[in-house]
Amino acid sequence: MEFRIRKYELKDRESVRWICCETGFMGEPVENYFIGRESFAEMWSGYWTDYEPESCLVAEAGGRVVGYLLGCLDTNKQARIFQKEIQPKLFRMALKEGDFRRWKNWRYFYRVFRSARRGEFKEPRETVNAEYPAHLHTNIAPPEYRGKGMGKALMQGYLAYLRERQIPGVHLVTTSRNRAALGLYYRTGFQDLFRGPLTCYDHITPEPIEKIGMGLKL
Ligand SMILES: CC(C)(COP(=O)(O)OP(=O)(O)OC[C@H]1O[C@@H](n2cnc3c(N)ncnc32)[C@H](O)[C@@H]1OP(=O)(O)O)[C@@H](O)C(=O)NCCC(=O)NCCS
Repeated sequence: MEFRIRKYELKDRESVRWICCETGFMGEPVENYFIGRESFAEMWSGYWTDYEPESCLVAEAGGRVVGYLLGCLDTNKQARIFQKEIQPKLFRMALKEGDFRRWKNWRYFYRVFRSARRGEFKEPRETVNAEYPAHLHTNIAPPEYRGKGMGKALMQGYLAYLRERQIPGVHLVTTSRNRAALGLYYRTGFQDLFRGPLTCYDHITPEPIEKIGMGLKL
C-alpha cells in the first residue's frame, strides 16, 4: 500500500479528531464506552494539535489522512497546559454537548472513579518525565490501513525528530489489549516501565486489562 508520512498541518485537525474517536477504545470506536466525540477528541488530541503541532506527524493514503502520531517534547509542560487550559474547556464542552446527560457515560465515570480509588492511575510520573520527557500517541483508522508499515514509519519519523533535538527519552502508555501497538513498541525497542490492572472497562470486555507504561532511551 502506498502512503506518505508528513508533518501535521492545520487542515488535518478534523481527520485527526475523527481517527482519535474511531480508535478511542483500544483501536475500536469510543462509543463502546463513551458518547461525546467533541470532548473525547479534545481530551486525547487537543493539546497536541493545538499547542504542539510541530511535534505531530500524519500518514496519508488514498488521498486522505488515515493515521497520526501526536508527539510532545516535554510532558511536564503538557501536563501544566492540560490542567490550566484544556480541563476547563473540556468541562464546558461536555456540558454544552450533553455528555453528562448520557447514562452510558455515567457507567464509565463511575468506573473511572472506582479505578482512581483503587490506585490504578498512580504512575511514577516524576521519574518517567525526568528520564523520558517526550511522549506520543499513535493511531490509524480505518482498520484496513493497519499492519502495512504505517505505524512503524510514523514512529521512525518521530524518533528522528526527537534525536535531532537531543531529547534523552520518550515514553507512552498503552494496554495489554492494544496488541498491534505492543508489537510496534517492542519492535522499536521500548521497554516496560510500569504495569498494573485497569478495571474501568470491565463492563465492556471480560478480558482482564493491564495498563502498560513503556520507555525508550534515545
Ligand atoms: C498501533 C498501530 C498504530 C500500529 O501501526 P501499524 O501500521 O498497524 O503497524 P506496522 O504495520 O507499522 O507494524 C509495526 C510492527 O508492529 C508489529 N505488528 C503489527 N501488527 C501487529 C499485530 N496485530 N500483532 C502483533 N504485532 C504487530 C509488526 O510485527 C511490525 O514490526 P515488523 O515490521 O518489524 O515486523 C495501529 O495498528 C493502530 O492504530 N492500532 C489501533 C489503535 C492503537 O492500538 N493505537 C495505539 C494506542 S497506545
